[in-house]
Amino acid sequence: MPSQQPTESVLNPIVIVGAGHSGVAVAAGLRSRGWEGDILLLEAEKETPYERPPLSKELLKAGAPDESAVLRKEKFYHDKRINRRAGLTVDAIDPGGRTVQLSDGSRHGYHRLVIATGSRARSLTVPGAELPGVQALRTRDDALELKRALVPGARVAIIGAGYIGLEVAAAAAAKGCDVTVLEFQDRVMSRVTSEPVSRFFERLHEQNGVRFVFGAAVTAVEGSDRAERVVTADGAAYPADVVLAGIGVVPNQELAAEAGLQCQDGILVDDDGRTSVPGIYATGDVTRFTSTIDGASQRLECVQNAMAQADRVAADITGQAPADPEIPWFWTVQHGVRLQTAGVRHPDDDVIVRGTPAEGKFSVVYLRDGRLAAVDTIAGLTDFRPAKKLIAQKTRIDPLLAADPGTPLTDAAFAAS
Ligand code: NAI
Repeated sequence: MPSQQPTESVLNPIVIVGAGHSGVAVAAGLRSRGWEGDILLLEAEKETPYERPPLSKELLKAGAPDESAVLRKEKFYHDKRINRRAGLTVDAIDPGGRTVQLSDGSRHGYHRLVIATGSRARSLTVPGAELPGVQALRTRDDALELKRALVPGARVAIIGAGYIGLEVAAAAAAKGCDVTVLEFQDRVMSRVTSEPVSRFFERLHEQNGVRFVFGAAVTAVEGSDRAERVVTADGAAYPADVVLAGIGVVPNQELAAEAGLQCQDGILVDDDGRTSVPGIYATGDVTRFTSTIDGASQRLECVQNAMAQADRVAADITGQAPADPEIPWFWTVQHGVRLQTAGVRHPDDDVIVRGTPAEGKFSVVYLRDGRLAAVDTIAGLTDFRPAKKLIAQKTRIDPLLAADPGTPLTDAAFAAS
């Protein structure tokens, strides 16, 4: 690929839309790869770009400071000549003229455009969802609002038992709240993990005072001037001072779709983050792409992917080789127990439990056509690193050996894979 280092023809900046993990990483990656041209980093939120993972964990803890860790200090943007403009949105893209229209009325040309607009919390659409006391958790402001509401004795109804719902349930229970989680499916974290892991975390939450209602179809939030109860289709009502909806995310792809970029529950990108329109890249939560591991079409909502894709975009823009691809990985901490996942599990993978969940520490191995596809590690990371390597190599695994926690995962690999 020809180098795209700035020449006299490259007068316009690289414009990056969105200063989340991925957008900031593109800007940083361009500079670390020697890009000399201008970089304009645009962000709708006003504050210094910050880490999102602590918002549903550390930030909610009693006595924790309200400031969440920033991704980079202000000095970084200054020193690296990254022109960061906050509190502005991009309202339109003109791919033909290579310009963006900003919410302040200004128009900027771009040399390359990088869309890193991320995702937003899926809205709860039932009657009463607009009442005070009902909220989602996506931004630092959301987290601070929630933190103030999580006082001892508060009745907290959480809709959705995904990462957000469960991390908040743990934080709320630790603060002495009365917590009920209403989940549509029949177990927690069904999108991301298998039944043995779900059951383990359900027990852990219940031991910490959290109640679950599965198969819950929420039909309304009721209250006179603020939320007082959540009602489900079977007529049950759950009293609530605080209602948190953690029911998934939707990609912020509208800007791209209106500009004619191909989108399908995410902006479609190739391995280098290129969209269907020349000169425009996309990276992070907002993208959909083909897994290099198994060819599946996927949208990954995790920091690791945000950073990895950002590196590939920065590499492509500067005409350099990207870092070796990393196996996607994810983590969550609930009641002090860490679940860390390597790879992307599919619902029909074979499930092998390594160890005894009742002992509080175990792993779960997922095999697809006999090959290692993903591993969940619970309260221990022994299997994590070898798993990433074995997944990358698409290693065939002996299920009997893999089921023995005393056998290192690498020793469960078939010699000839
Ligand atoms: P999620 O997709 O992980 O979980 C949503 C849950 O809500 C699912 O269990 C789903 O079955 C349930 N649900 C959907 N509609 C429902 C309804 N109407 N009634 C009841 N249940 C319903 O999404 P979540 O937890 O909202 O997280 C949002 C985003 O934040 C995701 O991108 C997630 O990856 C990210 N996140 C990641 C964390 C981590 O990696 N540790 C921590 C917190 C958030």
